[in-house]
Amino acid sequence: MTQLVVAPAPSPVTPRLTRSLIGKKLLMAVTGVILFLFVVLHLLGNLKVFEGPAPFNAYAEGLRTVGAPFFARGQLLWIARIVLLGSVLLHIWAAVAVTQASWRARPVGYRRLEPVETTFAARTMRWGGVIIFAYVVYHLLDLTFGRANPSFVPGDVYHNLVASFARWPVAAAYMAAMVVLGLHIYHGLWSAFQTLGVNRPPTAGWRRGGAALIALLITAGYVSIPAAVLVGMVR
Ligand code: HEM
Repeated sequence: MTQLVVAPAPSPVTPRLTRSLIGKKLLMAVTGVILFLFVVLHLLGNLKVFEGPAPFNAYAEGLRTVGAPFFARGQLLWIARIVLLGSVLLHIWAAVAVTQASWRARPVGYRRLEPVETTFAARTMRWGGVIIFAYVVYHLLDLTFGRANPSFVPGDVYHNLVASFARWPVAAAYMAAMVVLGLHIYHGLWSAFQTLGVNRPPTAGWRRGGAALIALLITAGYVSIPAAVLVGMVR
């Protein structure tokens, strides 16, 4: 007797990709690169604070008027915000899914763990991500919505920044968060190279050094802003 076997319907490529471990890692790498580009552009814009209040506030205003006359005020900024928020959510979703998969693969902890081929940055990726997320929530309340700012003036971004960093515990917390961000970027860039398949000899060693240098420059750039307010260079 012939048996009728019903084959499962082929699933679309994209859901199949995001269900696999490599698909999730790919999603984490691509969204990570988008967030990394934002962090670099945001730093370059923020360094304008060293030019004084008028250029810095003009830059912040420029973020709202960019694209005119083809786009209305704030339209491109909102598109960037939506892409950014989508990237953050997908990055976190993929990170949680990859973590759960690694816990499922090793439900019982090692009796004695001697990390081989790992760095402090690699071992702190999960906690680092949580700290950076908490930092961004505080940062938005501080400099975008003004709820956590001691004297928020809408439109006077320079004043809001100085008012916030003039309180040393806040400046110190920002600087500590930027060190965590640097470690996250260092290992994140390296992992993204790995997932995207560009970590082949003979340039792999060079790429690790490059990732470290980029992370260091980003951290130093961001740390310089609250530090400059603390020492009275920006006031
Ligand atoms: C010392 C470090 C930093 C300084 C001085 C700084 C400064 C600022 C300022 C002044 C604004 C308000 C801009 C405006 O309203 O036009 C802002 C917004 C923002 N910052 Fe930062 N930032 C820093 C680090 C970071 C980092 C590391 C991230 C991300 C990991 C970040 C993410 C954001 C986001 C998402 C916004 C909201 C943008 C928007 O929707 O308009 N910032 N930042």
